[in-house]
Amino acid sequence: MFADKALEGLQESFGGLADMDLDLDLNTGTVTLFTTTIVLTAALAYRHLSRGKDGGNAPPHIPSTIPFLGQAVSFGTSPIEFLLAAYEKYGPVFSFTMVGKTFTYLVGSDASTLLFNSKNENLNAEDVYSRLVTPVFGKGVAYDVPNPIFMEQKKMLKTGLSISHFRTHVPIIEDETRTYFQRWGSQGKNNIFEALSELIILTASHALHGMKRDKAHIEVKNIFRKAIQKRRADPNPDDDMLQTLIESTYKSGRKLTDDEITGMLIGLLLAGQHTSSTTSAWLAFFLARDNDLQDKVFKEQQEVCGDCVAPVDYDQLKDMQLLDRCLKETLRLRPPIMTMMRMCRTPQTVLGYSIPPGHQVCVSPTTNQRLPEVWKDFDQFLPDRFIDPEVANSEKFAYVPFGAGRHRCIGESFAYIQIKTIFSVLIRKYKFSLVDDYFPEVNYNTMIHTPTNPVIQYTARSSSA
Ligand code: HEM
Repeated sequence: MFADKALEGLQESFGGLADMDLDLDLNTGTVTLFTTTIVLTAALAYRHLSRGKDGGNAPPHIPSTIPFLGQAVSFGTSPIEFLLAAYEKYGPVFSFTMVGKTFTYLVGSDASTLLFNSKNENLNAEDVYSRLVTPVFGKGVAYDVPNPIFMEQKKMLKTGLSISHFRTHVPIIEDETRTYFQRWGSQGKNNIFEALSELIILTASHALHGMKRDKAHIEVKNIFRKAIQKRRADPNPDDDMLQTLIESTYKSGRKLTDDEITGMLIGLLLAGQHTSSTTSAWLAFFLARDNDLQDKVFKEQQEVCGDCVAPVDYDQLKDMQLLDRCLKETLRLRPPIMTMMRMCRTPQTVLGYSIPPGHQVCVSPTTNQRLPEVWKDFDQFLPDRFIDPEVANSEKFAYVPFGAGRHRCIGESFAYIQIKTIFSVLIRKYKFSLVDDYFPEVNYNTMIHTPTNPVIQYTARSSSA
């Protein structure tokens, strides 16, 4: 199969050359012989070069006629369509070049197993993420430290994300939502993505978006450092994430430094901000597009919480099953992290292919969550598909909006609580609709796939809302 694919690719690449030769008025026999010789020689060379050191086959490489840039334009224009088409043509493991780097995608549950079960020293996260993340989170945390240390830091953060903490989070989020949306009045059109981004991380997002990144980082660090010092001196401290981190120790017995605590708090805020605000904005548009579904979600709110101004608590969130399914389905069709990446440091084997060191190995939740053989009516927003709990688990890595394995997200429960609380307030307050039937296009220019022109129409459900 591999040789066919290589030949096919080379034929595509050399198609232009054959056309050129025909224009040269040579006799057809010479042209055919010439072209065939080049194609076969190149195919053999390609096949030889693409054998791994252990003699295994390299994954099929999607050919490109553009040196260095490779598939950057095709991928950049519509990455999901590109990956699904490549999957159809080349199967679950394939490579391509972009801006001089080779990316190898693992599509579907079986192939994805390699990435999710890998050890960090083989498929490495720091090599690809540190450059982006460390300037924002600071040194000494996340991808700036050896992975076992980051694993310990994740564990400490998880202690602060417990159910008893969630119980206190719900009224805070609810209160913030009510206060924030007072400015929207009883009806109008407004940018829901911007509003949700601000709501989800009001102060920090202002600080980080309004200034240059490095300056913002220093500024935010100073704010946190003062808060940490104040807290350390407090005889009756609150039981929150800051306190959890102040009291945490590494296995070695060492306590976290102020810088580490600050980095972890900034990391938490940022990891949760773009992911949750983008997901919330898409959820709003999926509901705005489908009146019947929105009515059902509203009915569920009335049944669980009562009237539009009644407060919501943590236990009630669990009863909002339809809202839960809508969020799950939003995360299927629009997972905010479209690709998880690792640097291949040691030779890897998957489904008979050998991946050499230097490839960037990727799994895309967006792609896995749209495979037609796993997801019936894969491109439809059908929250009730999750009534059967087996749907998301039919194949181990078919549904991975929060990743899996050692790098798995620790914020899933918090994100569900935050987004469900916000929507419990919003759906009881407003009826949403699309503006002129416009459902946002996906903006592929941002790392997280945000909605383009995310303006939504809203009308208050009652004057007391
Ligand atoms: C809708 C919301 C969210 C989604 C879809 C999401 C998605 C993800 C994904 C896909 C990963 C795995 C990345 C990889 O394997 O390369 C991840 C990791 C992580 N997330 Fe989230 N996340 C969300 C919210 C949050 C929140 C609210 C927090 C913090 C409270 C958070 C903290 C983290 C952390 C600490 C990691 C670990 C990274 C690692 O170990 O390398 N996330 N998240």
